[in-house]
Amino acid sequence: MATIEKDSVSGQNTTGHEWDGIKELNTPLPKWWVYVFWASVVWAIGYWVMMPAWPTLNGYTKGYLGYSSRGELEKDLAEQKKSRSAWLSKIEASDVGAIEKDKDLLRYAMAGGKIAFNENCAPCHGVGGVGAYGYPALADDEWLWGGALAEIEQTIKFGVRNTNSSSRQSEMPKFGADGILKDDQIGQAADYVLSLASKAPAKGSAGETVYTENCAACHAEDGSGNKDLGAPALNNQIWLYKGTKKDIVDQITKPKHGAMPAWTERLDASTIKMLAVYVHNLGGGK
Ligand code: HEC
Ligand code: HEC
Repeated sequence: MATIEKDSVSGQNTTGHEWDGIKELNTPLPKWWVYVFWASVVWAIGYWVMMPAWPTLNGYTKGYLGYSSRGELEKDLAEQKKSRSAWLSKIEASDVGAIEKDKDLLRYAMAGGKIAFNENCAPCHGVGGVGAYGYPALADDEWLWGGALAEIEQTIKFGVRNTNSSSRQSEMPKFGADGILKDDQIGQAADYVLSLASKAPAKGSAGETVYTENCAACHAEDGSGNKDLGAPALNNQIWLYKGTKKDIVDQITKPKHGAMPAWTERLDASTIKMLAVYVHNLGGGK
């Protein structure tokens, strides 16, 4: 029979269990531990009642407070969408000129334009519109089709040399491939273009005659280009297809032509407006 005794060293009772003369002390749990334990139990029950807790067959107990992290997220998103759509509907209702004049709207359009640009345009025009071979820089002050806000918007909307009926169109004749000019005439014209580009036109040269008769209609007498035709200025050092004599001869012989999609077919009107404002403010906008 187990007997509970008082231990003479600690002053505590034993449990009455004994194994081979070893007796077990019955040391009670510290009071603070017991309090914390019962407080936790009460808190847990309270939590089950108030908050989502137990899985059930077709869901879970929702709790008295009805909290859910998804619900919170949806609330946040709804608020964000509301403030976003307030800006977007302003952009939708304003033309690009009005957007640029409104400081807050401009800031919003620049931020939205930048995101859309990196996503849709940077693959061809480079991040920040720095351009690449065959893809015009949009951050400089040289424009094929015009750098006014409305001209930029038009270009983005309908693109260049695509199948959209409002697309910008033009074609430089294949002077070499179609036998319009002979090789020596092409060389002379290229020399004259180089002289225009270095701002020292070779007046009275054979090249000038070829140029005036064949090129000036599009690129202008003084080489300043024509934005209605997307004919680049030739009287500067900015080149779409590089500016060595060989590059110029190649272009006259069998011209390359850049093409860009009509973005109305892919992006909504507000995004296009933001893009136009963004491009216009890249640094080169007229
Ligand atoms: C598939 C390549 C490609 C993509 C993508 C592209 N572009 Fe272009 N873009 C071109 C080419 C090529 C030209 C030049 C066309 C020409 O030679 O006349 C051009 C011309 C332009 C011009 C006229 C530049 C000038 O000097 O007049 C603007 C503005 C422009 N792009 C804006 C954009 C914007 C904004 C986007 C994004 C929504 C975009 N582009 C996406 C290829 C592209
Ligand atoms: C019908 C109009 C037209 C005529 C005529 C024409 N061009 Fe062009 N030219 C263009 C267009 C448009 C482009 C731009 C092509 C593009 O954007 O991809 C161009 C591009 C060029 C370029 C490339 C410029 C660069 O920045 O890389 C050179 C050089 C050039 N033309 C020289 C000439 C010469 C020289 C003649 C005459 C022998 C001539 N062009 C006649 C329309 C014309």
